[in-house]
This record gives sequence, C-alpha cells and structure tokens, in this order.
Amino acid sequence: MIELLAFPGMEKLAGGIAAKIRCNVQYVDLHHFPDGETLVTIPPIPEEAEVAIIATLLGPDQLALPLRFAAQTLRQMGSSKVGLIAPYLAYMRQDKRFLPGQAVSAPLFADFLSDSFDWLVTVDPHLHRIGALSEVFKIPTSRVATAPLIANWISTNVSDAIVLGPDSESQQWVAEVARLANKPYEVLQKQRSGDRSVKISVPENPELFTRQPVILDDIASSGRTMIEAIRRLRDMQAKAPIGVLIHAIFAGDAYADILAAGALSIVTTDTIPHESNAISVAGQIADAIGSISQSA
Ligand code: R5P
Repeated sequence: MIELLAFPGMEKLAGGIAAKIRCNVQYVDLHHFPDGETLVTIPPIPEEAEVAIIATLLGPDQLALPLRFAAQTLRQMGSSKVGLIAPYLAYMRQDKRFLPGQAVSAPLFADFLSDSFDWLVTVDPHLHRIGALSEVFKIPTSRVATAPLIANWISTNVSDAIVLGPDSESQQWVAEVARLANKPYEVLQKQRSGDRSVKISVPENPELFTRQPVILDDIASSGRTMIEAIRRLRDMQAKAPIGVLIHAIFAGDAYADILAAGALSIVTTDTIPHESNAISVAGQIADAIGSISQSA
C-alpha cells in the first residue's frame, strides 16, 4: 500500500489521486526561516511503507533541497521506497549548451532527482531534443499523456473546434488531440527573438473563419506565444479563441494578459494548481503510480 505525501499546494490533486487508488494522503510541512532556509517536517508514516511524494516543480530552485531532504528523511524513517509524482517537471527544456559555459540543466536536474527518488511519474514533460525520459533519468519513469483528456474536453465543450498549435514544436500534441477529438487542426508559425519577444503568423485556412479556434500549447510562461496567436487570429476577424494549456505556469501577469488579449477563455489541466484548471489528471496519475510502483 502506497502512502501519498503532498507538498504544500498539492492538496486537491493529491486528494483526487488518493480517492482513485484508495490510499492515505498526508502533508509535508515546510517552515521557511527568515534567512531563506527551510525546515522540512514529515508526518508519521508506517515503517517500511512505500511513499509517493507529490510536488509540482514550478519554482524548482526553491523546491529542490526540500524534496531531497524529504526523501532522505523518509528513508531514515524506514520507508521501503520513495517515489516522486511531479505533475509539472521543470528544467527539461534546457537540453543543449547554446553558448560555452552554459549548464545543460535537463540531465543535471534529472541526475539530482534520480539520486533522491526511486521512481518518477510526470505529465507531458517538455522534451525537445531529448527523445525519452529514460535518456536522462537513471530511475524508472512514467510519462502521463494528456492528449486523451484534452481531446475529450474539446469534444464535450467545443463541437465546432479547429485545434491550433502556435508553433512547429506543438505539432506533436495538436495532431494527436485533433485526431482523438475528430476535429481539424492547423499549425501556426512562430519566431522567437527573446524571452518576451515572439512573432506569430497564421496560414490561410477558410475553416479559421467558420470554426471556434482552440489554441493548444504545453505551457504559457511569459504568455507571449498565446497572446500573439490570439492577436493574429483577432486581427483576421476569427472568433475569440479558447486557449488550452497543459501546464498553467503563467509567469507574472501572463494569465491576465492572455485574457486581455482577447481569449474567450483559458482552460488548463491541474498539473499546476490555478483558477483555470478544468481538466484533471488525477485518474491518469493514479494508473501510472499503480504500474510504476510494482516495477521499480
Ligand atoms: C515552446 O516551445 C513552448 O511550447 C511554448 O510555446 C512556450 O514555451 C511558451 O512560452 P511563452 O509563454 O513565454 O511564450
């Protein structure tokens, strides 16, 4: 039997997962001292239990040490295995050294987590040049796919959708979601010249005027990609687009800025707690825990 241990902010998703796999859920306490250090306190856990910590890795620099301290404390308390459920997995985009001296963070962060945990479950990690998590993680990993959930949400809520990817990287999600939802799709072109500087162009497609645009991306960070895609569609008199995102990162005012750019609504999965969460990954994570905890 697994014991689920939620980091702060993960209570709702942890409750959803615990209801599916019928396990206990308890909470890790993080006390932040004025000097920036953190005291991690683990609740009483049955000895030799297998424990799954759930912590979404938004703000990974602040979470990394508390995660390692929690995992090591659990081992000292007698846990037989300690797994990590990281619905959003940070640092996977930094997979190449673009300039001399830059850290290639993806494998370094994967090493850090592999040294702390026995297994990892995550949801649609942003992998670009890395083909599979097993290329960088030394522990068993399971990668939950949200495409069926998002396709189901679109089928149920937007009967006349055309699914749009904002850039060539999104082609993979968009084609799969459109196929599962049985809707047409189109991929826009993006040029990025800086963290907050993005240009989007929209190919000609008559269905953009007759159908409800649903822009699908894995994350909105600065929000510029989603904002520019919405603006181009509004410029050409398409309907106000719905934005669907897997991970609700929304740095700074990105969420308000996307709405202000003319989105009809923004919908996200609950990998990162946010008011836009409308699609739950609890069932898929529960299934993944079942398989990986037996195999690890
Ligand atoms: C890019 O490859 C990603 O899929 C997103 O489109 C991108 O990271 C979004 O970033 P931002 O919100 O800062 O434009």
